[in-house]
Amino acid sequence: MTYGKPVRILHALLAMSVLIQIAIGELMNVPGAGDEPGHAFLQIPFAFAYEGHTGVIVEETLGFEVHEFLGLFIVALVLIRLILAFTTIPGAGWRDLFPYVCASGCKTLIEESKTLFAGLTRLKLAPPEESKAVAGSVHGLIILSVTCMAIIGTVLFFAWNEHGRQTALIDLLGETHEVIAGFLEALLAAHILAVILHQRQGHNIIARIKPGGE
Ligand code: HEM
Repeated sequence: MTYGKPVRILHALLAMSVLIQIAIGELMNVPGAGDEPGHAFLQIPFAFAYEGHTGVIVEETLGFEVHEFLGLFIVALVLIRLILAFTTIPGAGWRDLFPYVCASGCKTLIEESKTLFAGLTRLKLAPPEESKAVAGSVHGLIILSVTCMAIIGTVLFFAWNEHGRQTALIDLLGETHEVIAGFLEALLAAHILAVILHQRQGHNIIARIKPGGE
């Protein structure tokens, strides 16, 4: 199986922006989160913005500004990816991402998982044709986590108070955003490790997702 061109292009854009976004998210200083501003790596120390509605001058950090706008770009990318899930483009369908929603997919996933755990002790993965349901489920969880982060991130974009205090709800959303980020990082680590193992075994799966490939 190969992936259709739109899926490949979206993968390249999404992979690049999400990896950059995660790095920025870990390094930036968040105005209004109660951090010590001096500890940020990505800070413009003397950049200030005028908040029209409150008349307060707030300190801006470059990292947080980039995080906000890259976040909105990722929202657009993941929306397009979700739309593609309802097309017939090869490899794009929602059944590939969520095989466990039907009984036969669930059965295949259980069988493939057994093979996966047996092979993992020897750092060996089954060929991609025999691990479609496991790989698809991880990809589906990645898309779901990015979607959740995108939804919460959009709410925070409009509701986050950069002057200091957050309401209890916004605080909770901010913390949820961080927890999902941790989950997404673990999934991406597993995803990238699986790609490395497949490549070492000569499965050449990168050719299936490269935007320029056949
Ligand atoms: C160094 C970074 C990465 C590499 C080398 C890589 C490589 C790959 C490869 C080879 C596949 C095809 C797997 C198959 O044959 O079935 C794939 C699929 C996929 N990857 Fe990555 N990936 C990377 C980063 C990411 C990131 C950061 C994300 C999430 C934002 C991501 C999300 C996905 C998804 C969702 C798919 C399935 C295609 C789709 O449904 O859109 N990948 N990746």
